[in-house]
Amino acid sequence: MRALVTGGGGMLAREVVRTLEEEGATVHAPTRRELDVTEQAALIAAFEDLEPEAVFYCAAYTDVDGAESNPAEAYAVNAVATARIARLCHDRDASLVYPSTDYVFSGEGSEPYRTDDPLSPLNVYGASKAAGECAVLAAPRGCVVRTSWLYGDGGANFVTSIVRKAREGGALRVVTDQIGRPTWTRQLARILVSLQAGGAQGMFHATGGGQPVSWHGFARAVLEHAGVGGEVVPVSSAEFGRAARRPAYSVLDCSETESRLGAIADWRADLAAFFASAGNGVDD
Ligand SMILES: NC(=O)c1ccc[n+]([C@@H]2O[C@H](COP(=O)([O-])OP(=O)(O)OC[C@H]3O[C@@H](n4cnc5c(N)ncnc54)[C@H](OP(=O)(O)O)[C@@H]3O)[C@@H](O)[C@H]2O)c1
Repeated sequence: MRALVTGGGGMLAREVVRTLEEEGATVHAPTRRELDVTEQAALIAAFEDLEPEAVFYCAAYTDVDGAESNPAEAYAVNAVATARIARLCHDRDASLVYPSTDYVFSGEGSEPYRTDDPLSPLNVYGASKAAGECAVLAAPRGCVVRTSWLYGDGGANFVTSIVRKAREGGALRVVTDQIGRPTWTRQLARILVSLQAGGAQGMFHATGGGQPVSWHGFARAVLEHAGVGGEVVPVSSAEFGRAARRPAYSVLDCSETESRLGAIADWRADLAAFFASAGNGVDD
C-alpha cells in the first residue's frame, strides 16, 4: 500500500510511519517544509506524484492556547486544508484517517463521551478540529479517530516535560480538575493503521484504557515511573490560568473501536511500556 502521512516529524506521525512500515507499506511522510498542507498546489502535486491509497492526516495546528489568538492559522491547517485533502481522497478513491480530539466536547458531562454525542468545543482549537471532522466525514472513505492526552517519542509532551521539570527541581503545579485518559502515540498509531486496514469509515474514539485520571494524578504516575522525586502541587484550572478553556471531563467511550480491534490496554500499562521503550526521549 502507498501511504501519505502529512505532518511528518510530528509526534504521532512518527509512530504512524513506524507502524505502517512494519506492515510493509510504502510511506511518504513529508514535513511541513516539504509539504505545507495549506498550499493547495503543493497538495495536488503530492497526490499526483505519490498516488496515495491511504492518507493519514497527522498535520495539525496543536497549540491549544496559541489558537485563541491565531484562529485563522488553526482553521487553515485543521479544517480548510483537511477539506481539500478530503476532496482529493474522494476524487482518487483514497482512504483518509484524521486524528481528532476530546476538546470537541464541553467536558460538562460525567459519563464517557460517545462518538455521536453533541459537540460543544470550549476553545478555538477544538472548534477547528470539529470543522475538520465534518469535512472528513463527508468523504466516502473518511475515518475520524478522536483521542486525548497524547504523549510519545520525539515531541514536546506532558510526560517528558514533567520529568524534565522535576529533575530541574522545584515544585510542579498540576491541575486536579481536568479528568481524562492519557494515550501513548505508539498504541494510537497501531489503532489508526488497523482501522484503516479494516476499511473503517465514520467516527471512532481511541485513548488509553482503564480508569480516568486527573492531570495531577497522571503527573504523579509519570514521576513514579521515571523514579524522580518531587512535589506535585495540586491546583485548579482557574488558578493555573491559561488562554484557552479546557474541558473538565473529557473521557471518551472507546467501545466501538474495542469491538472492532479488541480491548485497549490500560493507560498505566502503556506508560510503563513507554518508559521501558528505547529512544523515548525522556533522558534527552
Ligand atoms: N497532542 C495531544 O495531546 C493531542 C490530543 C488529542 C488529539 N491530538 C491530535 O493528534 C494529532 C497529532 O498530534 P501531535 O501531538 O502529533 O501533534 P504535533 O507533534 O504538533 O505534530 C503536528 C505536525 O503537524 C505539522 N504541521 C503544522 N502545520 C502544518 C502545515 N501547514 N503543513 C504541514 N504540516 C504541518 C507540524 O509541523 P511543525 O512542527 O513544523 O509545526 C508537526 O510536525 C493532531 O491531529 C492533534 O489534533 C493531539
